[in-house]
Amino acid sequence: METTKNVTAVVQTAIERHGTTRDALIPILTEVNDTLGYLTPAAMTEISQLLHVPGSQLYETVSFYRMLSTKPRGQHVVQFCESAPCHVMGGRKIWPVLKEALGLEAGETSADGRWTLLAISCPGVCGVGPVMMIDDEVYGNLTPERIREILALYEQGGV
Ligand code: FES
Repeated sequence: METTKNVTAVVQTAIERHGTTRDALIPILTEVNDTLGYLTPAAMTEISQLLHVPGSQLYETVSFYRMLSTKPRGQHVVQFCESAPCHVMGGRKIWPVLKEALGLEAGETSADGRWTLLAISCPGVCGVGPVMMIDDEVYGNLTPERIREILALYEQGGV
């Protein structure tokens, strides 16, 4: 449960670790995002004040980085590569299968808080396209069958 005190402590810890220069902004946002699960309004306000970054600029920065979010995300974040090399390797057929299997569109989180689905640009492993990541795990050479098998593993608690 988020409390003001918790948020303050998390932001302070990140600032002590990274400093208050402009270079520290992304590391601080990343650490606070990872610790709280997302960048809460209270955290954004504190970071804005302590680093002297206008709120509008801060929200613009956060929206640029897919690993950062101002909305709660699911327990598992699925990131599907939508760049051209993966697309021509079969990604265009896999994407609807993945969306249907999760019951989500890009950017959505399931009502039970279990899954968030994101479409991302090339994460750099084109040799095994089509590719998706679930949290920090990369899954390549995707087929519709493999999508179902991988998601089933997570549903069964095997991952
Ligand atoms: S295009 Fe998908 S991993 Fe590079």
